[in-house]
Amino acid sequence: MRLTKEEAHAFWRDASGKNAPEQYLFGDGTELRSHYLCNKINALKLDKKATTILEIGCNAGRNLIALGVEGYRKVFGVEISQKAVDFFTETTADMVWKPQIFCKAAEEFVADLMPYSVDLIYTMATLLHIHPDSEQLFQSIKNACKTHLMLIEYEGSDALTSSSRIWERNYAEIFSEEFDLVESEPVRGQCDSALEHYIYRLFKRRT
Ligand SMILES: C[S@@+](CC[C@H](N)C(=O)[O-])C[C@H]1O[C@@H](n2cnc3c(N)ncnc32)[C@H](O)[C@@H]1O
Repeated sequence: MRLTKEEAHAFWRDASGKNAPEQYLFGDGTELRSHYLCNKINALKLDKKATTILEIGCNAGRNLIALGVEGYRKVFGVEISQKAVDFFTETTADMVWKPQIFCKAAEEFVADLMPYSVDLIYTMATLLHIHPDSEQLFQSIKNACKTHLMLIEYEGSDALTSSSRIWERNYAEIFSEEFDLVESEPVRGQCDSALEHYIYRLFKRRT
């Protein structure tokens, strides 16, 4: 049976084992995932100092830190797990520059953002954990995202369907009214096996 929204939130607030913050920061293959993401974002040729970039579900901030190393300065994240945010705070204590991470449910955080206030919003392996009762999050993303939306997400195949805390969606359809899908590819073979069944999609707001 699938989890309720409250159960899904509770799972992620207290995730352990292979979903512990240590695994998302230092686990096998994680560097490759951030490298894949940074390459995709670098290809957009954005102004690294001026572009605002938000990761939804950033855990302990591995992707955000990697973007910081690339020179992006206005990067921030939202994460539901206080444990993950605390781990980020501990491990980055000596860093001069660091991204900002807000500890909140994405559903609430993104709804409170000003319209068109974030140049680029991205997710990696997070939207599949958003419960159907939280579909409003997608409208909030549409409202807040000014230009680019980048998703590296599981959209469905036989591989993961038995999980009680995964929900498959077609993001090309969900965002198609306001955004053009400008790039799309299976991640398979370009990252570690954790993202083998994932799809990369880049959307641009239709003007
Ligand atoms: C599979 S992990 C991916 C983490 C990170 N994006 C990465 O690629 O390493 C999913 C992340 O989404 C977070 N998450 C799940 N549901 C959330 C929600 N409703 N609001 C904010 N974060 C959420 C989890 O706590 C977890 O850190």
